[in-house]
Amino acid sequence: MKKIGVLTSGGDSPGMNAAIRAVVRAGIYNGLKVVGIKRGYEGLINGDIEEMNLSSVADIIHRGGTMLRTARSEAFKTKEGFEKALNVINIFGIEGIVVIGGDGSLRGAEKLSEAGIPTIGLPGTIDNDLAYTDYTIGFDTAINTVLHAISNIRDTSTSHGRANIVEVMGRHCGDIALYAGLAGGAESIIVPEEECSIDEVCKRLIQGRNRGKLHSIIILAEGVAGNSYEIAKEIETKTGIDVRLTILGHIQRGGSPTAFDRILASRMGGNAVELLMKGKKGRTVGMKGNEICNFEISKALSMKKEMNKNLYELAKTLSI
Ligand code: ADP
Ligand code: F6P
Repeated sequence: MKKIGVLTSGGDSPGMNAAIRAVVRAGIYNGLKVVGIKRGYEGLINGDIEEMNLSSVADIIHRGGTMLRTARSEAFKTKEGFEKALNVINIFGIEGIVVIGGDGSLRGAEKLSEAGIPTIGLPGTIDNDLAYTDYTIGFDTAINTVLHAISNIRDTSTSHGRANIVEVMGRHCGDIALYAGLAGGAESIIVPEEECSIDEVCKRLIQGRNRGKLHSIIILAEGVAGNSYEIAKEIETKTGIDVRLTILGHIQRGGSPTAFDRILASRMGGNAVELLMKGKKGRTVGMKGNEICNFEISKALSMKKEMNKNLYELAKTLSI
């Protein structure tokens, strides 16, 4: 193998830059040429590709976002778009690709591998919604961002004696809500994986108020069924407590990656190059119990993500 490419795809996540840096530097260290493919699969279709050198990835390990930019490419899912991508790979002499992205991006990586292009996936998403890895790149930074927001909201919540609902991202996965809620001492955590009774949430709020609690933080995952404003209204009506809703949104996707995410991204990026050099393809890199591991992409994506019930119960116990 002489030349590999790297791309970021789907929703960006903090630590993607650290992963790109690791792929480029490990590739060059091992005597490979490395090209950067811009805007994910869109750049692959359009030939938006540039050669990377050691300095192309200087000064990015601490930056959020992705220097290669990203996209969600509908064209790549079509037969014509996919064939164009294969032609570009051929024309540029790319012999292996590292795809950094979420589950959708990994499905794309699987397709490339099936078409004979050695491809390795890295889990880049804030959602932590991939069952085959304990953590995805960007999750730790996102929960720290949420934690910071919770601390700020707690100040004003206390001053006014309010209940504040904080809606967080995560698509269908409640991990951002669960981990940030536990770390932030939230009174209630509402996730899509667990049935939640609003009456129970209200009961906790009233009990808290009755024993002199001045603030209440409820973390609500975006994947929970229903409208957040309506949930807030219902809680206000049932408890008589003034409720405010904050939807954190894309603030959770940016920011300088934490040490954890930089280290995870660096380890995974280095491992992806190692796998390509060993002739592996169609595999995706993860981390289980602090050990870097890899799975066949189709197998990894068929695993069902389970919420950590122990953490959920612990958060409940500690917030009585
Ligand atoms: P993420 O990777 O963050 O989950 P998406 O689900 O939007 O984000 O996927 C990113 C891109 O991956 C899509 O825009 C598309 O180009 C590609 N992709 C997603 N699913 C498939 C699929 N089944 N086959 C081929 N490509 C796919
Ligand atoms: O997958 C990452 C994520 O931030 C989800 O948590 C969220 O639901 C979605 O992407 C938002 O997507 P977009 O940036 O396209 O609005």
